[in-house]
Amino acid sequence: MRKLLSTCFIAVSILVLNGCGAGDQINQIGFVPLPTEISLEKGETTINQEWAIIENGGHDDLRSLKELLAENLAVDYGISVSRQGGQKIALNIEPDNPTFGKEGYALAVSEDGVKINAGTPNGIFYGIQTLRQLLDSGDKTDGGITINQLTVNDAPRFQWRGMHLDVARHFFDVKFVKRYIDYLAMHKMNIFHWHLTEDQGWRVAIDQYPKLAEISAYRDESLIGHYRDKPRQYDGKRYGGFYSKDEMREVVQYAKGRYITVVPEIEMPGHAKAALAAYPELSCTGGPHKVEKLWGVHKEVFCAGKKETFEFLENVLTEVATIFPGPYVHIGGDECPKNRWKEHDLDQQRIAAEGLHDEHELQSYFIKRIEGILNGLGKRLIGWDEILEGGLAPGAIVQSWRGMDGGIAAANAGHEVIMSPTSHAYFDYYQSEDKENEPLAIGGFLPLEKVYQFEPVPPEIDQDKLHYILGGQGNVWTEYISTPEKAEYMAIPRMSAMAEVLWSQEKDRDYESFTSRMKWQYKRLDRMKVNYRKPE
Ligand code: ACM
Repeated sequence: MRKLLSTCFIAVSILVLNGCGAGDQINQIGFVPLPTEISLEKGETTINQEWAIIENGGHDDLRSLKELLAENLAVDYGISVSRQGGQKIALNIEPDNPTFGKEGYALAVSEDGVKINAGTPNGIFYGIQTLRQLLDSGDKTDGGITINQLTVNDAPRFQWRGMHLDVARHFFDVKFVKRYIDYLAMHKMNIFHWHLTEDQGWRVAIDQYPKLAEISAYRDESLIGHYRDKPRQYDGKRYGGFYSKDEMREVVQYAKGRYITVVPEIEMPGHAKAALAAYPELSCTGGPHKVEKLWGVHKEVFCAGKKETFEFLENVLTEVATIFPGPYVHIGGDECPKNRWKEHDLDQQRIAAEGLHDEHELQSYFIKRIEGILNGLGKRLIGWDEILEGGLAPGAIVQSWRGMDGGIAAANAGHEVIMSPTSHAYFDYYQSEDKENEPLAIGGFLPLEKVYQFEPVPPEIDQDKLHYILGGQGNVWTEYISTPEKAEYMAIPRMSAMAEVLWSQEKDRDYESFTSRMKWQYKRLDRMKVNYRKPE
């Protein structure tokens, strides 16, 4: 595979046109996502235990990056690098060099050794991931790995390359959450959207409201089979769990070491029945309520008329902000039925007092008030596209899920947008039309190739508004995903396709090339013992 006959410079976009066969050669290397520019050279370089890793640039992160790379080399390839080898892998941070941007890097493998240059530690981290992929496609030679000499110049297309995990419908422990973060990291993704609260369970310990962990974190039982089955059956087993603050901080720290920002999601005003089970006074009816055992959309929501609701949410968000240092908090905002607000005098009084026209504007009032709280805590608000209804909060970021229209409207109105439409980004959907031979899923059909065809920037976005599309995200909702193995099966390899959509250049998108490079990715996933879905 690595025996290249000629030196070819390849801007990846002209692979097919340049006639030197380099496209095929590159497809033999397991780069996923595909780098921006790859220049294959004639020679080969063997990395073995005589080599050392050195660092330049004085950044605090360089030490841990060096340790991480040394660990990768030892664990994955059995190469224990020495302290002062003759040949070197050099990690060079050049903070004043503008070529790389915030996340770009250059990787050079030559006679002189291996160099990863970047302007930031993020870039070095991505360069290391590319080097690991190159080593996977290398040849084992006594005590070392022989790889092609080459130069890679690379930077992501989008700044928001996200994956979501719903830990509320089913709970996933910290051990698995960290593994999931590893999967993101190997795909050069940089956002972990942690969906922490729902009707069916609240997973965040909050000091001021201990009943959230005692009551809201547990439901009496769970649905067996599908929501559509009649009669519905339940398993009769109490189910739940929550994360302590220390555990959440551990996850944040782990993600930070992999250049991933954790975005916590605290759902409001809807999908809040678990919280209302513990604090029924925050609902319109006053309760009593139970943590919900059925999936779907439920009528009990936070009352928008009571001042106590906003006090509670401010206190919760204040604690959440101390756990998650990242700039964003997701507040959900989706699927909030207005039945209770229509019936309740306090909500109607709020509508009258604030001069609002209807319950949609009341939802908008709610979200704007929460945005004020978050901004006061130094955070940006993100919400699902329903937050457009009744008027968008001024600085809100919109996550488009009911198709692309919400995202298009928001971007054209000058709001930042994350695209994650059900059509291309819902990894809880079936992966094959042969549903009988797939594990039970919520419905839909989203094969790998369709994820790969996802284009986060639709033509309806005005030319001067394109920059408002921050990127995209794959979502893993877990109504029908109760184990880590099934989460892996649903998430991967669709995550690989999403990663390439979000990192690589649009002009280089080529499904055949992707599937050929994925052969190496599957080997990598086998080595990691990931229960990914095997391609047909
Ligand atoms: C959603 O899927 N309800 C955002």
